[in-house]
Amino acid sequence: MKVAVIGAAGGIGQALALLLKNRLPAGSDLALYDIAPVTPGVAVDLSHIPTPVSIKGYSGEDPTPALEGADVVLISAGVARKPGMDRSDLFNVNAGIVRSLSERIADVCPKALIGIITNPVNTTVAIAAEVLKAKGVYDKNRLFGVTTLDIIRSETFVAELKGKDPSDVRVPVIGGHSGVTILPLLSQVEGVEFTEEEVAALTPRIQDAGTEVVEAKAGGGSATLSMGQAACRFGLALVRAAQGEQDVVECAYVEGDGKYARFFAQPVRLGKNGVEEILDHGPLSAFEQNALDSMLDTLRKDIQLGEEFVK
Ligand code: NAD
Ligand code: LMR
Repeated sequence: MKVAVIGAAGGIGQALALLLKNRLPAGSDLALYDIAPVTPGVAVDLSHIPTPVSIKGYSGEDPTPALEGADVVLISAGVARKPGMDRSDLFNVNAGIVRSLSERIADVCPKALIGIITNPVNTTVAIAAEVLKAKGVYDKNRLFGVTTLDIIRSETFVAELKGKDPSDVRVPVIGGHSGVTILPLLSQVEGVEFTEEEVAALTPRIQDAGTEVVEAKAGGGSATLSMGQAACRFGLALVRAAQGEQDVVECAYVEGDGKYARFFAQPVRLGKNGVEEILDHGPLSAFEQNALDSMLDTLRKDIQLGEEFVK
């Protein structure tokens, strides 16, 4: 497998590259690309770690060498939030970055599984989809918005609250990746009961966890290390499924049946060609149904913004 990390010199990119260098299956190739000139050096640095994963770094204007032959492309290129900003404030810069990277992917590795980390994810995924569509290579099963950070946060916070081992906790998170569009399904956490007060406190904590990090970093950026961990989990899931492992299930922001919105984060079974099956999110509590109904307007507008940007 060849995995390309785009935005690899950044906070997320470097953490992700470190984790992938350690955890990709033996014989994998890892390609790092970033406009920052340090990127080949980041790859040289990581190449001294004794794992059977080969690594190469590229910088400059053209991502082509990193994308050539890539099976999985993970994109974290773009600017991050500062205190006082919403993810949507990143649109002006990041929309163009995702558009031009998607154009190159369409030309160089149109069959790759693409994971978009760059914010605002609700919108950047729609941008990538429209670019790939215009190039005649869009396959909705191969394009993912990476929402795994919402999952790992939910697992951590639930485990803390309930005194559990976080590795035993699974929390589906549906919707999108910003504010009210992030909906953790606490009613579906196996072996755990929540009071109404706990749900009312935990849900916004998960929804606002990105802002918690942005404020704590006080102008130094947003989540990078936990996002590196989340993107590694998701990237490895894509790789394992592509290599034939059965029953690989993760939540991701994908184009499904459009029941709620064109793109929607939901549990999916992954296979050799990306999404193999969209799984039902199961019954919702009254609180969750109300939160779902209330988010849809925002989510649909976020998606429309991306579609219109490309058109
Ligand atoms: P960062 O500033 O540390 O790194 C971004 C990197 O992108 C930089 O190294 C920069 O040189 C590079 N870059 C910019 N334009 C590029 C281009 N055209 N091609 C290649 N590389 C380019 O930022 P970060 O903290 O790593 O965050 C990156 C993005 O990820 C932000 O948009 C942030 O909001 C988003 N993010 C998403 C999630 C999520 O859950 N999906 C979580 C955290 C952050
Ligand atoms: C996060 O959830 O941490 C990311 O989307 C970054 C941000 O801006 O909050």
